[in-house]
Amino acid sequence: MRIVLGVAGGIAAYKAALVLRLLTESGHDVRVVPTRAALEFVGRATWEALSGHPVSTEVFEDVADVPHVRLGREAELVIVAPATADLLARATHGRADDLLTATLLTATCPVVMAPAMHTEMWQHAATRANVATLRERGVHVIEPDSGRLTGQDTGPGRLPEPEAIVAAALAAVDAGGACDLTGRRVVISAGGTREPLDPVRFLGNRSSGKQGVALARTAWARGAEVTLVGANLTVPAPAGVRVVEVGSALELRDAMRASAVEADVVVMAAAVADFRPAAHTAHKIKKQPDGTVPPLELVQNPDILAELTADRLRPGQVVVGFAAETGDDSGDVLHHGRAKAQRKGADLLAVNAVGEGVGFGTAENTVTLLDATGAEVGAASGSKDAVAHAIWDAVVDRLA
Ligand code: C5P
Repeated sequence: MRIVLGVAGGIAAYKAALVLRLLTESGHDVRVVPTRAALEFVGRATWEALSGHPVSTEVFEDVADVPHVRLGREAELVIVAPATADLLARATHGRADDLLTATLLTATCPVVMAPAMHTEMWQHAATRANVATLRERGVHVIEPDSGRLTGQDTGPGRLPEPEAIVAAALAAVDAGGACDLTGRRVVISAGGTREPLDPVRFLGNRSSGKQGVALARTAWARGAEVTLVGANLTVPAPAGVRVVEVGSALELRDAMRASAVEADVVVMAAAVADFRPAAHTAHKIKKQPDGTVPPLELVQNPDILAELTADRLRPGQVVVGFAAETGDDSGDVLHHGRAKAQRKGADLLAVNAVGEGVGFGTAENTVTLLDATGAEVGAASGSKDAVAHAIWDAVVDRLA
């Protein structure tokens, strides 16, 4: 793929060399376009050696080649990492005072920006407004990480790790330039809850969180502002999304309800424990010398999906649930799925077959999409990202 890597003048510019390396090692042809200020941090020789191409910052270099038009037109993906407050401001206003901003004006492919700056600059009203405008226009702006900044200070504004930037950018390309969730807020639960029994033990389940993480990655790639409520995820959260970590079903319920108030779409992909221990002790439950086994009393957890469906915390909200089913004597997977769709009332229910090695923890998934009446409205099979895209297609139909 032909990629333009824009580098703006911030201390995180050194991390862009690793982004470049990851891209070229996977066979992509990368043109680096640093700003003048970026070259104060990492010199031209580094970019030229690592990309194998000459590097310019100005539209007046190689004029005969008209690079400010050619680079943008030919690019299949533009990544700007780091994007400084100044670069965001110039891009928002359509300035073309260097080769990078000129390239941004001619690019027709997905554009992914990874801002990095001090917390005050990131939170400044001017930057907030610029980011909102860029997102409205379909630019994929990755939320910066929170953590150590240039000096001793910490806070939001840190450039995400190079691997995460590359994964997010490739997901944006995978979405085929679809920006049909731009301006939409979505909240997704993923993973499996752990119901504490004592300080060291819990009742849990086998959910890896992969399908929920795929939904978060693909929604972001389609332009959504994503909150991922992660319960004990075994896979890293994608770059670009806001993550709220939870442990138990009750914590997950609180986090979902708090985010659902502002969400256009709510997806319950987490495996929520139906029961929790009636009490959880502050001390580890001890083994008794006489062999007495402590009783395990369980109480029912709230059905978070059913509550969210009944309450519709925001008007017009689309609610999506999952049903991991196994067939039995009383009916097959779809039979149970239909009954569940009618019971839960979610706008969409993604039904999949599970069992040892099927569905849980695997890279692939197969789902049938049912509406609230139990009617089949779609099906998807393949990678968890492909299944996620099919679910977003059905969601987009309903949002319209
Ligand atoms: O009833 P069942 O657990 O099979 O339903 C699965 C769907 O309901 C999933 O979307 C899951 O996230 C959600 N769920 C929930 N609260 C529960 C149990 C399941 O929201 N206590």
